[in-house]
Amino acid sequence: MTSISNSDEDAWRLPRLDEVASESAAVRIDTSIPHTARIYDYLLGGKSNFAVDRAAAEHILAAIPDLPTTLRLNRLFLQRSVRYAARRGIRQFLDIGTGIPTGGNTHEAAHQVAPDARVAYVDNDPIVLVHGRALMTDDGPGRTTFTQADLRDPKAILTAPEVLEVIDFTEPVAVMLVAILHFIKDEENPAEIVATLRDALAPGSMLILSHASSDADPARGQAGAAGWKNASAEMTMRGYDRVLAFFDGFELVEPPGIRPHWNPDNEPEDALDSVENVWGYGGVGTLR
Ligand SMILES: C[S@@+](CC[C@H](N)C(=O)[O-])C[C@H]1O[C@@H](n2cnc3c(N)ncnc32)[C@H](O)[C@@H]1O
Repeated sequence: MTSISNSDEDAWRLPRLDEVASESAAVRIDTSIPHTARIYDYLLGGKSNFAVDRAAAEHILAAIPDLPTTLRLNRLFLQRSVRYAARRGIRQFLDIGTGIPTGGNTHEAAHQVAPDARVAYVDNDPIVLVHGRALMTDDGPGRTTFTQADLRDPKAILTAPEVLEVIDFTEPVAVMLVAILHFIKDEENPAEIVATLRDALAPGSMLILSHASSDADPARGQAGAAGWKNASAEMTMRGYDRVLAFFDGFELVEPPGIRPHWNPDNEPEDALDSVENVWGYGGVGTLR
């Protein structure tokens, strides 16, 4: 375990302590095993990662060298889907599996359309908590809060005081499970977790979901997924039908289905829109 201090070998990668709320100084970062948030950060070109994370990421990249392109496409999906929801009147976002802040975070995308949109960020990794509280909390009309909680205990998320500070579950909410459900194993009942969240939502709410898949090349996908074997969570890539099933009870937005490329509002074309080999799917569903 490494405690955050400005003298640690990797501390320059973290926010300065004077940028971090005092309570966060007590947070301890485990550098003995790779963490999914930090692997993702490395793959996206970030600096909030440690040697163990970089080693795991390099293992993954040896099998799937083009994975970073899919991750950037996933960020584009996140931003487009948040704007999509905000354009349809959603003013509350519950973003579970936030990740280490990078460009175009949920509240930034939402505020492009609706400056009063509120965001409850939730993640189970303490490094995300430190960065999130330092960089992403906002006391303005478009308030954001940050909660450390685990998706495997959805009821704890639904009742967390910091979530309830900005989310009113009697009004429509966009629940975001963007690139997180593949860290929930089959035996941890991901479908039941999504159903528990769905059942807490008011009509008009949305599910914004993306998920890793090896449909493009199962052998390479499996080899790459092995890179998460000893990480804070293992990777379970799922096929099209299994990802689609997470939208049970939701009506998929037009054109219906989940897809590697997602742009129903015809936002300006991005170079990523023409990428062919994509390691995942994204989609948005509405609760009627
Ligand atoms: C791949 S990142 C995705 C970040 C962001 N949603 C995106 O798509 O850009 C996955 C995030 O989910 C978090 N995570 C993984 N398992 C989790 C769990 N069981 N509960 C809460 N957060 C989890 C990780 O810490 C990490 O920050």
